[in-house]
Amino acid sequence: MEIISNCTQADIKKAAKALKDGYLVAFPTETVYGLGADATNEQAVGRIYSAKGRPSDHPLIVHVSSTHQINKWGINIPEFAMKLATKFWPGPMTLVLERSELAKNFVTGNQHTVGLRIPDHPVATALLKEFEKIGGLGVVAPSANRFGAVSPTLLDEVIEELGGNLFVSDMALGGGRSVIGIESTIIDCTRKSPIVLRPGFISIEMIEEVTGVQSNLIINDSEIRSSGQFSSHYSPLATVMLDQLPGAGEGFLAMANIETPSGAIRLGSPSSIAEFASIMYTALRQADRLGLEKIHVIQPLGSGLALAIRDRLKKAAFS
Ligand code: TXA
Ligand code: MG
Repeated sequence: MEIISNCTQADIKKAAKALKDGYLVAFPTETVYGLGADATNEQAVGRIYSAKGRPSDHPLIVHVSSTHQINKWGINIPEFAMKLATKFWPGPMTLVLERSELAKNFVTGNQHTVGLRIPDHPVATALLKEFEKIGGLGVVAPSANRFGAVSPTLLDEVIEELGGNLFVSDMALGGGRSVIGIESTIIDCTRKSPIVLRPGFISIEMIEEVTGVQSNLIINDSEIRSSGQFSSHYSPLATVMLDQLPGAGEGFLAMANIETPSGAIRLGSPSSIAEFASIMYTALRQADRLGLEKIHVIQPLGSGLALAIRDRLKKAAFS
């Protein structure tokens, strides 16, 4: 795999061509790093499943560069979804829409819906635009980690996760830390009102304000296979314990105003909820690098992004 930490336009062009030729390209987004493949190439998409060790009926999000591409993948798009698209794209939001002919079973996991996202990161945007220029229609990109593991928010973490499973002609592009730090909010737009399948930076409150319709959070709907639907996910090797104080030699992640108990190993001291989300996955990974057995996390309180953080932590802690 070719690793490029600081992409030039020539690198972006090469990466777009690699995608078009059926290779995989890992790239940064504002939420987490993704592992990309041409969404119309069944073989390339198949390689994503094997590189990640991911069950093949698990649907993928199609990434495009602008709202012009949306109608190619989604049909019968309701007005509230258009409002969300206009307000929050490019950004940390995925809309689940009724699928067009273009969205095949190998992308949607046999569902009649398709997840779409316009990411907000200069490298992702440049790559998607260049890919579209040479005839590409969309890039599927799950988080660039092994299935069930913690999503990467840095290029080094992508290499740590997938380096061994990629081909020589695959590529990995860098673009600094993913600033949001947790995956996009997934909103099902195929029913009368928006339903949040996976909480994220775009909160229920924000959705309701923009659409003027009531929105709900769904957890554990067995008919919809979203990443949130697996009880255990986003897990480091270390055992994650919630809202209890650590003993000596155990990892500790909490807001900056909470002191480190004696002998515990501080993994992060964010001073805001946004910073908590941004560093959380790297802190969990750090525990594994240090070979710790336990990580104690004091969860942030409140709604919005804090709720999304707790959603991920609950799954990380599930055993
Ligand atoms: O922030 C993100 O969304 C990142 C970046 C790379 O864009 N991507 C990401 O992809 O988190 P992934 O595959 O790790 O998680 C996407 C989740 C999947 O678990 C899948 O179940 C859900 O989105 N999903 C995709 N298409 C869907 C659909 N048609 N209906 C319901 N859920 C869907
Ligand atoms: Mg994922």
